[in-house]
Amino acid sequence: MELTIKVWRQANKNVKGAFKSYPVKDVSPDSSFLEMLDELNNDLVNKQEEPIAFDHDCREGICGTCSLFIQGEAHGPMREITTCQLHMRSFKNGETITIEPWRAEAFPIIKDLVVDRGSFDRIMNAGGFVSVNTSGNTQDANNIPINKDDADDAFDAATCIGCGACVATCKNASAMLFVSAKVAQLDLLPQGKVESKERVLKMVAQMDKEGFGNCTNTGACEAECPKGISLTNIARMNRLYLNSTISSK
Ligand code: SF4
Ligand code: FES
Repeated sequence: MELTIKVWRQANKNVKGAFKSYPVKDVSPDSSFLEMLDELNNDLVNKQEEPIAFDHDCREGICGTCSLFIQGEAHGPMREITTCQLHMRSFKNGETITIEPWRAEAFPIIKDLVVDRGSFDRIMNAGGFVSVNTSGNTQDANNIPINKDDADDAFDAATCIGCGACVATCKNASAMLFVSAKVAQLDLLPQGKVESKERVLKMVAQMDKEGFGNCTNTGACEAECPKGISLTNIARMNRLYLNSTISSK
């Protein structure tokens, strides 16, 4: 395949960025999107040019780092996959492919396509955990029966990989899908119910502090989420937040 890669280049967060186009040749349709970028970077290095900075780690849809806006869509044109799971056969020969970083105030650009998602970490630090009693009197987890529907919903919510596609896609840069998935994952299980009320209040407060926008129910986040995280998590978190606000007064 022969393609034109139009990519956002920005040396650091303090300077303005701009698109730059690069022709690429002999791209295998079976190569992954990130392998295509690796090849382009090899060419740039051979020409003594600065390679394109982009995030990646597991390259199998687990870590959530490979966050690229491709042809105007988070993780590209295919549904329920991450950028590292995207293959070049999803594009047409001769196509111009535009690649941008996530764009949100709470995700400042570090370099080129790499953004700082530390805001997600700070939300998790605010309450995205369970405190475990290590006194020696800890209950065996298998002694507590869990409703199958709750277990399934908790598992589905736990598949969120923290990639940030929901934020990048939302016109308000809302992090509600991410935060609600993390809240649900813990709140639906007995171990997480102990800190339920303070958790949701603290995580939502940190989300607001980081500068994420409000949810206006467009559903774009769910449509672009690589893990199919459901909007029902947002509705569940809103109910929990309201109850926690009332009962903490
Ligand atoms: S909810 Fe989906 S899009 Fe948002 S961070 Fe989690 S996996 Fe990514
Ligand atoms: S590199 Fe880990 S999800 Fe893509």
